[in-house]
Amino acid sequence: MPSTTKTTRAFVIILFIVFAVAACKRKPVEEKVAPPPVAPAAFPELKIPQDNPQTPEKVALGHQLFFDARLSVDGTRSCYSCHQNEHGNGGETPLAVGAKGKQLTRHSPVIWNTAYFEAFYWDGRSGSLEAQAKGAWGGGNMGVGADNLAKKAVRLAKIRGYKKQFKSVFPDEGMTPDTIAKAISAYERTLICNDTAYDRYAKGDANALTEQQKQGWALFMGKGQCAVCHAPPLFSSAMGVPGGLYYNAGIGTAGKADDQIDVGRYAVSEQDADWAAFKVPSLRNVSKSAPYFHDGSGATLPGAVKLMATGGIANKNKTPLLADRGLSAEELDALVAFLGALDCGGTLQQPVLPK
Ligand code: HEC
Ligand code: HEC
Repeated sequence: MPSTTKTTRAFVIILFIVFAVAACKRKPVEEKVAPPPVAPAAFPELKIPQDNPQTPEKVALGHQLFFDARLSVDGTRSCYSCHQNEHGNGGETPLAVGAKGKQLTRHSPVIWNTAYFEAFYWDGRSGSLEAQAKGAWGGGNMGVGADNLAKKAVRLAKIRGYKKQFKSVFPDEGMTPDTIAKAISAYERTLICNDTAYDRYAKGDANALTEQQKQGWALFMGKGQCAVCHAPPLFSSAMGVPGGLYYNAGIGTAGKADDQIDVGRYAVSEQDADWAAFKVPSLRNVSKSAPYFHDGSGATLPGAVKLMATGGIANKNKTPLLADRGLSAEELDALVAFLGALDCGGTLQQPVLPK
């Protein structure tokens, strides 16, 4: 080997060592900047209505009903149709499409941990899971019609397997709209997501999150100010709040006349402050549940996060709690990475349906 090449190589190696030493010396100082925020792990106690106690038989029955398209007016939609594993247990299309191909006006939300809400739907118009189930079954989602539920229940009770199970689980009532809704709700109360990487981290496994996710977690709690509305560990501050919690982020207002805008919570409360305000969704499973927002207008998670972190969309009623937090592209990436730590481990299993 010619000696000039040798000298050059030695020089490069020395240069490398000098830089490496310098980098090592600086690193501990950077890492000491701020300890990561404390991650709460413990979920609040789930409230079970007194008139609908959980039993394994009832849950199994509700599980079948949730997956049974025979409940819908045309046999095309089960509850699961719009809350599928493949879509993070939210909807596939921006706006849901109900029985008979009916175009609905909102996006199907993720239903993990939904039992922690005390008001259901994006506008909180339903006060219990039981009422919500009847709403979805009678309304456009499944198209049966609120007045036809009793008749439909009589027809479904002709399915021998259901008849038998309802007799056992609801001996006094049998198969009625109310008992169907109760069984479905009991099943929904078992859809608990508490096994994410975040949960393992919160319980003390420091390696459950990557360095980038830890940076994202700190931003979520700090500079990004996300936890104001998406408080851990449920990641929706609306959960456990009677009546729910609603904010106008401006979603669905851009370039529209007032009378074309979905007024959200305002239709329920008739309070001006609720105009075009929607319920704070949980962010659990969010990396799997695109598209986003009540109207499905957020196509990607980075896009949805950027919109939230830069203050939402300006309109006459936007909440002052959303503002441009001045996050860099790298910080936004870290936030998105952190949200990936909220992926739920479980999936809904297809049950055997009764004949
Ligand atoms: C055609 C699609 C479709 C079907 C079928 C459907 N849903 Fe939904 N679901 C939606 C949409 C869309 C929303 C939000 C509607 C709104 O906010 O106005 C929703 C909301 C919900 C919510 C409220 C979640 C929250 O965060 O407030 C629950 C719970 C739910 N559905 C359960 C069910 C059950 C139980 C059934 C079967 C009886 C069902 N869904 C059938 C599309 C569907
Ligand atoms: C003022 C309360 C508030 C704050 C602060 C807030 N959000 Fe939200 N977030 C909401 C509301 C309300 C929605 C639903 C808006 C709609 O659909 O109209 C939402 C929706 C989302 C969604 C879409 C979820 C889905 O399932 O469709 C993501 C992702 C999200 N927020 C992330 C964040 C992040 C990241 C931050 C911090 C940078 C943040 N949010 C700060 C209230 C808030």
